Amino acid sequence: MRIITSDRLVLRPWRDDDADFLLDLESRWEVVRFLGAHPTPMRTREEALASIARRRAVDHPIHRIWAITTAAHVLVGNLLLKPIAVTAGEPTVGPDEVEIGWHLHPGAWGHGYATEAAEAVLADAFSRGLPKVLAVTDPDNQASQAVCRRLGMTGLGRTTRYYDAPHELFEKLPG
Ligand SMILES: CC(C)(COP(=O)(O)OP(=O)(O)OC[C@H]1O[C@@H](n2cnc3c(N)ncnc32)[C@H](O)[C@@H]1OP(=O)(O)O)[C@@H](O)C(=O)NCCC(=O)NCCS
Repeated sequence: MRIITSDRLVLRPWRDDDADFLLDLESRWEVVRFLGAHPTPMRTREEALASIARRRAVDHPIHRIWAITTAAHVLVGNLLLKPIAVTAGEPTVGPDEVEIGWHLHPGAWGHGYATEAAEAVLADAFSRGLPKVLAVTDPDNQASQAVCRRLGMTGLGRTTRYYDAPHELFEKLPG
């Protein structure tokens, strides 16, 4: 799997020995509270290991789920690029509906890491032919919407098309 680097960060595959960090990350309400219609904090190391196995199973030329570390290999979070779950009953429109998402440990908020990691992944994905990326944010998730704006994404307004809930939608095209 590709490793992507930026000035301060490394994006690499999730590994089993990241389980303690992943559990620490996703057991925190402040990290998961805006994820999906029914956010559920992770509870056990076994759940973390199962989640890591699912993350590693994503095998696609462009879509990936990366662990984000600093250049000194300290884990700070998660960056994903994957097809979006469309709300039940909504028509699917093909492979264009790919989302980018970010989840950082609260200890790593406020350093620009989410924006820097997403910029690096989008540069890579657009260079490999990704035609468009979306970000689906909870209407109250101002921190995530700020990341979208820092990335130069365009706000498309409110939608219920994804994840069975209202979201603020953002889009970015190559170039
Ligand atoms: C969404 C989330 C990743 C945003 O994290 P973040 O650290 O605020 O975002 P960035 O990485 O873009 O960092 C920007 C902040 O770093 C600051 N910063 C410090 N040094 C910086 C630098 N060198 N470059 C850029 N920004 C820097 C910015 O001023 C900004 O802080 P501010 O908002 O207080 O002004 C984080 O809140 C999170 O993980 N939330 C929980 C998970 C979640 O909701 N994910 C989104 C689901 S849609």
